[in-house]
Amino acid sequence: MSAPTWNIWVLHGPNLNLLGRREPEIYGAATLAELDAEVVARGAAMGAGVTCRQSNHEGVLVDWIQGALDQGIDAIVINPAALTHTSVALRDALAAYAGVKVEVHLSNIWQREPFRHASYVSAVVDGVVSGFGGGSYVLGLQAAIRLLRTRSGGAAG
Ligand code: DQA
Repeated sequence: MSAPTWNIWVLHGPNLNLLGRREPEIYGAATLAELDAEVVARGAAMGAGVTCRQSNHEGVLVDWIQGALDQGIDAIVINPAALTHTSVALRDALAAYAGVKVEVHLSNIWQREPFRHASYVSAVVDGVVSGFGGGSYVLGLQAAIRLLRTRSGGAAG
């Protein structure tokens, strides 16, 4: 198999390791492993090498984002989970990351409790996908690849 054109990280924030068991009426029945397998397969079909990582710890996510450019990562698709609504540190790390970045949420955060309506992250990413379950990650990945193609001078496709 030829080397992927793009290297993309999909990062999951706190409690997303519990997918499938955690409020399935909101977050769906699929486990994180199942979701990751789909995202990796979709990425491969679009010429992207996708690596998925999850942490419950803000600092770990910040370290990963800081390391992404050094490690040649072209894009980050991130579900910051609860840190969306609380973390200036995550926002600052993403602001410093020069690659393509897309925020995703399984649920539609604007249909939920008022405290979920505000995101520290949205203003520093290229775009947001929210409300399509696992499909939000697939759409986020497609959007990231489309932007990468455009930025590298190719047709968006
Ligand atoms: C979430 C929405 C957040 O408000 C929540 O804290 C999560 C998951 C989502 O994917 O819908 O943990 O980011």
